[in-house]
Amino acid sequence: DKIHDFQETLLAWYDAEKRDLPWRHDQDPYHVWISEIMLQQTQVQTVIPYYERFMAKFPTVADLAAAPEPELLKAWEGLGYYSRARNLKKAAIQLVTDYEGVWPKTAAELQALTGIGPYTAGAIASIAFGEVVPAIDGNAFRVFSRLLKIDADIAKPQTRKIFEAAIQPIVSPTRPGDFNQAIMDLGSSYMTAKNPDSEHSPVKTFNQAYLDGVEDQYPVKTKK
Ligand code: ADE
Repeated sequence: DKIHDFQETLLAWYDAEKRDLPWRHDQDPYHVWISEIMLQQTQVQTVIPYYERFMAKFPTVADLAAAPEPELLKAWEGLGYYSRARNLKKAAIQLVTDYEGVWPKTAAELQALTGIGPYTAGAIASIAFGEVVPAIDGNAFRVFSRLLKIDADIAKPQTRKIFEAAIQPIVSPTRPGDFNQAIMDLGSSYMTAKNPDSEHSPVKTFNQAYLDGVEDQYPVKTKK
């Protein structure tokens, strides 16, 4: 069926063209977590050296939990949004003390950790633990709004539920983490915010907004 064809096409493209990024070398939840937090307000190319230095300095959750705050903030210098770094340490302490170092493995449970919202929880659960859940950040909102012509306003908090319900049945049941990361790569290559190149996209035949000539109308986003 169409969903299966989409999954196959997307994952074949991902296997052939995926970006070689340091946090994609394994599925360690610590690696996924730190990279996803860094990537929230910062571009991939900027994050790479920060991620490498961070892992050299704080190689495990226990190291992060024990990190002196000045050292932690120094490692974060230049990334901005320092609350992200402080929340990382808080969550690391929660993991060590409340969870005895054992990661919760579902998106629902992961959201109990400080600084882990629905997007980060979905990314960790799918990439590190293989849970079949979407990871919906700004890129995924844009990509799926176009593929599925979803007219809900992405500036509204309630809209996340609409996208979750629409995307959940499409996530690859066998490779949910790769599926979510393929969507991220699609959003940063062919299905960009400005000047998308849908004509050459591997999933152009699944892109309903493009097929209908209305791609420039998606995502729907009111000014706040
Ligand atoms: N942006 C957010 N998460 C990402 C990831 N895991 N890989 C590439 N870009 C991303």
